[in-house]
Amino acid sequence: MGRKTILLLIMGVFWAYYIYIPLPDNIEESWKLLCMTTYWKILTDLSLFAELLGVNHFMNIFMFFMNLQEVPPTSDENVTVMETTFNNVPVRVYVPKRKPERLRRGLFYIHGGGWCLGSAAFLGYDSLSRRTADRLDAVVISTNYRLAPKYHFPNQFEDVYNALKGFMRQDVLDKYGVDPERIGISGDSAGGNLAAAVAQQLIDDPDVEINLKTQCLIYPALQTLDMDLPSYRENSHFPILPKSLMVRFWSEYFTVDKSLVKAMFSNQHVPVESSHLYKFINWSSLLPEKFKKGYFYKSPTYGSSELAKKYPGFLDVRAAPLLADDNKLRSLPLTYVITCQYDVLRDDGIMYVTRLQNAGVQVTHNHIEDGFHGAFSFSGFKIADRLENQYMNWLSENL
Ligand SMILES: *[C@@H]1O[C@H](CO)[C@@H](O)[C@H](O)[C@H]1NC(C)=O
Ligand SMILES: *[C@@H]1O[C@H](CO)[C@@H](O)[C@H](O)[C@H]1NC(C)=O
Repeated sequence: MGRKTILLLIMGVFWAYYIYIPLPDNIEESWKLLCMTTYWKILTDLSLFAELLGVNHFMNIFMFFMNLQEVPPTSDENVTVMETTFNNVPVRVYVPKRKPERLRRGLFYIHGGGWCLGSAAFLGYDSLSRRTADRLDAVVISTNYRLAPKYHFPNQFEDVYNALKGFMRQDVLDKYGVDPERIGISGDSAGGNLAAAVAQQLIDDPDVEINLKTQCLIYPALQTLDMDLPSYRENSHFPILPKSLMVRFWSEYFTVDKSLVKAMFSNQHVPVESSHLYKFINWSSLLPEKFKKGYFYKSPTYGSSELAKKYPGFLDVRAAPLLADDNKLRSLPLTYVITCQYDVLRDDGIMYVTRLQNAGVQVTHNHIEDGFHGAFSFSGFKIADRLENQYMNWLSENL
């Protein structure tokens, strides 16, 4: 073989691996998603390779590249942007500049990034918060929280919870002119997980007298028990969030110990002592027919109790809000859930919708047939504008 043939062969393999990714026909602007996927895949592989060489932890390298998206807190003609802390947790605050006619709504936003990545300072989150403040005439709090692999559960949960409680103090609401009857919480992906978890926690907290009016969960992760739901099977190699990455995020939330990620990936991490929890996430009874399609429900394969003893977090309701019982769910606020067809987390969201509805909570479920994980945050994509519009319209009517 000549040099040219070898070169062509290498380019062919590179093309096949990084650029040629079959996508479903109904994906809009699929070339944009392909470019995004290629960039994302190279980033993932570089980080994995660097980890293999022992340079640093995969997530730290990933974070280094992602943090290039950070922007300073700069006010614009419509919105004043400030940084402060609530209960020592750093947050960004967005206040509309126009004169308030009455007390404003308050929206507490939690960014995504698999509990490992992301920040309120990312350009995408910063501009979302500006648009939300401006369009809803709302005070928006965009919170940060400590991230894995340096910090693990429950730090992420506690930071978000403490920041929310710091915001919901009467003197703080007075300071920003926020109506205590019109406070909502929102988050995407891991942020949706944290939003659902803190909304539950607030219900029985004797220190907090104010109730949330709304919760918006944008393709949230809600359970750790079953990594083999139909949505995991269908989308295990779908761009941006393949099963391997999602399982890695989950396990990093609890520990850097690789034995958890291995057990989770093969869905053998739950000990038999916890078998009673499966009723809360049983897709055979909680998914509508359309999403079960031809999948057969297999009873769980139980793992050793060692992992659950070492890392009890993965069976904790504060990490997996689907594990809450109906009594708890009953008291949750008006809920908006976005799920995407092409997303390993799709069935987490759908099962939560079923469970909330069964418990009598008012839920608006927006299932996006041509949606994929991350679509809400991909600025420049038509689908991102569409989802944001629907989300804002819902908030405008319900918060
Ligand atoms: C401020 O609001 C005006 C009127 O709605 C709008 O035209 C303008 O684009 C906004 N500016 C920014 C920076 O968003
Ligand atoms: C899940 O639900 C199905 C019925 O829909 C039932 O046959 C099965 O035993 C349940 N599994 C568990 C572990 O609860």
